Formats: sequence, structure tokens, C-alpha cells
Amino acid sequence: MPRLLFLGDIVGRPGRGAVIARLRALRAELGADWVVANAENAAGGSGLNASIARDLAAAGVDGITLGDHCWDQRGFDREIDSLAHVCRPANLPAACPGRTHLVLEKDGFRLVVFTLLGNQFMKVDADHAFRAVETWLDRLRKEADAVFLEFHAETTSEKIAMGWFLDGRAAAVIGTHTHVPTADARILPRGTAYITDVGMSGPYTGVLGREIAPILARMSDGMPRRFPVAAADVRICGVLIDIDPATRRATAVKRIEIPAE
Ligand SMILES: [Fe+2]
Ligand SMILES: [Fe+2]
Repeated sequence: MPRLLFLGDIVGRPGRGAVIARLRALRAELGADWVVANAENAAGGSGLNASIARDLAAAGVDGITLGDHCWDQRGFDREIDSLAHVCRPANLPAACPGRTHLVLEKDGFRLVVFTLLGNQFMKVDADHAFRAVETWLDRLRKEADAVFLEFHAETTSEKIAMGWFLDGRAAAVIGTHTHVPTADARILPRGTAYITDVGMSGPYTGVLGREIAPILARMSDGMPRRFPVAAADVRICGVLIDIDPATRRATAVKRIEIPAE
């Protein structure tokens, strides 16, 4: 049965270092057929560049997704089209460069992977996720046997609602963006694997992957500062999902959280 390992937001050098060092062994140990990772924070904590995207591919990441930090690295808008294993959120304006989805294949079974940005408390102007998803499902189901949606959103309610909205229509609805793992991984009644947030792959002694002191200072006086990527307690977080090719639904979803050392 095809098994997908999906990793949450890779944050900075600590996050990508851990993924690059551990992925080969992890992939074999977990029996994953495909690895997809969100890398919206992989370059300096904000955005992605072509060189890191290629390093992650060489380490065994089959597909890379992005989020609201998609364009944070200068020039990435000119690089993204050359990266066949990278897709940007599908509900960004159509004029944006980059692929809107990726297709993974195993023994003739095709899984389409795409990301939608949520609309609540998100600073990026994206199409309305609940309305856009209908169109995307119609389109993508023609290209593949099953659908994986990464819902990159801030509020738990918006993400839980999307899980119920797509239950039975997608093999998985997997939350990212908050960088904090939630303990609610489950298979919904009609066979959709769901979790509100898989958490980040990055340093947990920090605030969402950033150093603690500058964040505390900012919280205290409100002054702008640089927020360097934190360093300690690096963990690789994600989910392992089994998809039954016969039903095109998930049969298992398990959260993983692996210390880098
Ligand atoms: Fe993120
Ligand atoms: Fe994000």
C-alpha cells in the first residue's frame, strides 16, 4: 500500500540539516514510498531558493510545498519554474509563477499533492480556500487517482472545517503553518487522513523556530528586530499516511516526531 511521509515546515539550516542528514535512514525505517516536505522556511527561516530545493531533492525529498513565505527569498520567483519537484500554494493569484501541484506515482497509482492557503489571519491575499478547493478537486482528480491537500492555515477551526469539508473526497487533509504539532491525527469517517498541524521540522527551543530573546523583547516593547533562527532541540515532525489504491482513501495516519540527534 503506498505510504507517504509528509514533513512540516523545514526551518532554516537546523531544520534542513536534520532532514538532509536523517532522511535516507528515516525513509527506509518508516517504509515510505514518497517524501513530501513543506520548505517555506528552509532558507534563513523565510522562503526557499533553488540551491536548497535541489539539496533537499538529493537527500530524498520527492516533492516540496510552500506557504505564505513562498516569495520571501529574492529571485525565487524566477527560479521556481525550473524546479519540477516544487509547487507553490494553488490559490495564489493565477499570474504567479510556479507549479500549482505535483503528481507522485508508484506502480501506476498517482497521488496529486497540492497546498491551499487559509484565509483567516493570513497576510497573503489568496483565493477563498473553501470555494477554490471545489475547482481544484475537479481539475486534479482528472490527473490522478487520489488527492492530498496540505492546508496551510492559521486557525484550528478553519483547518478542522476543511477536513470535514473534504472527508471522503481527498485521501488526506494535512495542516501546516503554525509550526506547533497537534495531537489530533485521525482518519475521518469517510476515509480522509486528517491532522490540524504536523508541526515544524526545526528547532523547538525557540518561538516557532526563532530565537527566544528577540521575540521576548519584541513582545515587551513592540520594537522591530531581527529574529534569527533558533538552534536547539531540533526535531523532524510530520505524518506517515497509508493510502489504499482500491478505495483511494487513507487507512492509517500516524504522527512522527524525531529528535535530530
Ligand atoms: Fe512555516
Ligand atoms: Fe506559513
